[in-house]
Amino acid sequence: MLRVEDTAAVEFSTELLAKCSEIISRYPEGKQKSALLPILHEVQAVFGWLSANSMDKVAEILNIKDIEVYEVATFYTQYFLKPQGKYVLEVCRTGPCCLVGAEKLMEYIGEKLGVKENEATADGLFSYRGVECLAACGYAPVLQIGPEYTFYENLTPESVDKLIEELKSK
Ligand code: FES
Repeated sequence: MLRVEDTAAVEFSTELLAKCSEIISRYPEGKQKSALLPILHEVQAVFGWLSANSMDKVAEILNIKDIEVYEVATFYTQYFLKPQGKYVLEVCRTGPCCLVGAEKLMEYIGEKLGVKENEATADGLFSYRGVECLAACGYAPVLQIGPEYTFYENLTPESVDKLIEELKSK
């Protein structure tokens, strides 16, 4: 599964390699694996997602096995394993949000954008996906957009339309 859409070679820039070294230096000797999560965030920030080749490169940098990187990257939903749009609409799909229409809202977003969950729109602007509780249950349904993780609350199809138009015009 991880090898899908992953034929391109990955080159880490000098800046990215320096950032990786700086992150590794925050941890005691022999504990370089502790740098894995922040390094994956840096790599994702550069490439927009984590390809298997980029994860292999991280494993090489940390001198750990490829599978150790895959285990972490596939566990946390913050890591994207497929190319995403510039704006990833992360819709909470946990119980309280579902009780007030989160699932229908996700369907609506998918239809509006013309893509399935975790796919990017043709213009590369948008993707959407379901995530677990965003700790804003009182304002359900809720979505967030990274990297600043801005929250949008009490969503309706109309407010989603408005949000998408605003993001398009940025
Ligand atoms: Fe959606 Fe908690 S259930 S924010």
